[in-house]
Formats: sequence, C-alpha cells, structure tokens
Amino acid sequence: MKILGISAGTKNGRNDAMCKEALRAAKENGAEIEFIRLLDLDIKHCTGCTACVKAILGGKGNLCVFKDDFDWFLEKFYEADGIIFSIPIFEKGTAGIFRTIMDRFGPRMSRVHNLIADKLYKEGNGKEINPKFLEEKAVSYMALGGSEWITNVESEFSIHALTIMGKIINKEVFPWSTGIMVDDKRFEKAHEIGLNMVEAVKDIEKASYKSDKGVCPNCHSKNFYFPENSGAKAICCQCGIEGEVSLNNGIIEFNYSEDALGHAHTNLDGQIIHANDIKKNLISLFEDMKTDKYKERMAFYKDFIKESLPNK
Ligand SMILES: Cc1cc2nc3c(=O)[nH]c(=O)nc-3n(C[C@H](O)[C@H](O)[C@H](O)COP(=O)(O)O)c2cc1C
Repeated sequence: MKILGISAGTKNGRNDAMCKEALRAAKENGAEIEFIRLLDLDIKHCTGCTACVKAILGGKGNLCVFKDDFDWFLEKFYEADGIIFSIPIFEKGTAGIFRTIMDRFGPRMSRVHNLIADKLYKEGNGKEINPKFLEEKAVSYMALGGSEWITNVESEFSIHALTIMGKIINKEVFPWSTGIMVDDKRFEKAHEIGLNMVEAVKDIEKASYKSDKGVCPNCHSKNFYFPENSGAKAICCQCGIEGEVSLNNGIIEFNYSEDALGHAHTNLDGQIIHANDIKKNLISLFEDMKTDKYKERMAFYKDFIKESLPNK
C-alpha cells in the first residue's frame, strides 16, 4: 500500500508539516509513503491547445505537448493507492500551482476520456492506455488559510476529483492557520486524515467520505450558483446537479429529481454525456474551420492588432 503526500506550500512550511503528519500516520499503519512539493517541479501552465482532447478522443492515446515534470508527477500519482494534498489558500481558493495541476490533469487525465480511449484500443482503433489511468484513486485534500477567506477552496478540490473520478475520503479546511504549528488539535486532524486514507485504500470499494456532509446530498458541496430570476433554482457548483434550495426547520436543503442526478458530473453516465457533447462540438468546430466565414474572421482578428511584448 502506497500513500503519496503532495504539498503546495513553502518549503518546510505549514502545509508541508500537515501533509507530513498525515503521512506519518500512514507510515505508522503500514503504508509506504512518498512526499512531493509541487513548487519543486517544473510544471507549465496548460495553454488550452486541446491536443490532448483531440488525441485521446481520436484514439491517438494519452499525451500532452509539454515535456516537463508533469509526466513524472503523473507516474508518482498513479503508482500510489491513495493521495493526500495539502494546499495553501490563495484568494479564497487553491494556490495557483494547484490550479495549474488541475488544468494539466484536465481532459487528458479525465477517467472517462481514458475509459473511452481504452475501449477504442480494445476495439483495435487506438493506442494503448496506461491501465493505471483507469483505476479509482482515493484522494484527500487539506487546505490551509491565513484567515477565514476560504469559500472557494473545497469546490476546487472536488472539481479536481471529478476529473479523475477519484473517491474523496477527507476534504478539510483549516482557516486562521498561522498558529497551526502549536495547535495539537489540528495536527491530530491531519493524523486522522492519514489513518482514514490507510483504511480507505485497504478496500476502496467500501471506502466512504469522512468529512463535513455539506448541503448537496450527492457531493457534499456548500457552493451553489443561482441563475438570475430563477427563484429557488440552484446549480451545485461541484457536481452540476440542477435542483432547488429550501430552508426546512433552519436547515438548508437541496432537492433534485432522479433525472437531474443522472446528469451529475460525479457519475460515469453524466461524464459520458459531457464527453459526447465535447466530441460533437469538436466535430462541428472542424466543419466551421473549413468555411470562408471562419477563415475570414480569424484572419481579421489576427491582423487587427498585434500583441505587445516586454523588451528582453
Ligand atoms: C498570494 C497569497 C494569497 C493568500 N490568500 C489567502 C486567502 O484568500 N485566504 C486565506 O485564508 N489565506 C490566504 N493566504 C495565506 C496562505 O493561505 C498561507 O500563507 C499559507 O497557507 C501558508 O502556508 P505555508 O506555511 O505552507 O507556506 C494567502 C497568501 C498568499 C501568499
């Protein structure tokens, strides 16, 4: 059993320490452990070139145009049975390096895209996919903030888990963490997260979510989007379910239909619907690209103004 800890904090800072505490618990309970600091790695920003989407849905395998440390990182990620992140909160959400990681996982590491590509390979129409990319991973996330400006971070963690269809075991936010190094209770929590991960990877099928229940019964989200002039209609910012919020005996409830649940981004079916929609749109884009209107408009904006660059 291997547990990987990933920190995006400063070297030997508070995120490193909390992550290592979770790993200490894992090691004491029989796990092999490894620790990675994201800021030690050369990981470029995704440019949105979409080469990975075209390749994976077109049977050309799992690839990215960049040759940096991300492939090494993926190897470490997928050889682990369970992964525990500790990420600083920046601007109420995750630190930029985590967002970059999320983007680089993006379409390329989407488990559904890899399952579709694996099917193509097995039908003789595509390149082989690393079988590790098809497995379910147990993931836990910790976020450390210097204040209580923390409201977007859990959502971003869940969206990372959506991509890989990972099973979230813990998702814990530690606001006002400046004094965390002398706070036994919060280190005990990190320890518990390590223990929970060990238990989870022993039987991932039976493993279950151990943190706050939240409001969305499907994904435990506390973040909702309210479309304009739509009454109590709400969209869960994490799993995308459309439903209604209400207040019952002082408790906020989020209710939705069975059909809405079927479209949830956390479900295989919901993700397949999304992947097929993307494929349809790509096919339509390729048709647009052949038209004069597309070519003329592209040429107009290319020549309209050139980008400014710093003098080097
Ligand atoms: C650019 C920047 C933005 C930050 N924004 C927030 C924030 O919105 N909310 C918050 O609670 N803490 C915020 N912080 C505090 C960090 O979360 C805190 O410094 C970090 O968790 C410390 O981790 P470390 O000791 O592992 O480096 C911010 C810090 C920086 C440097």
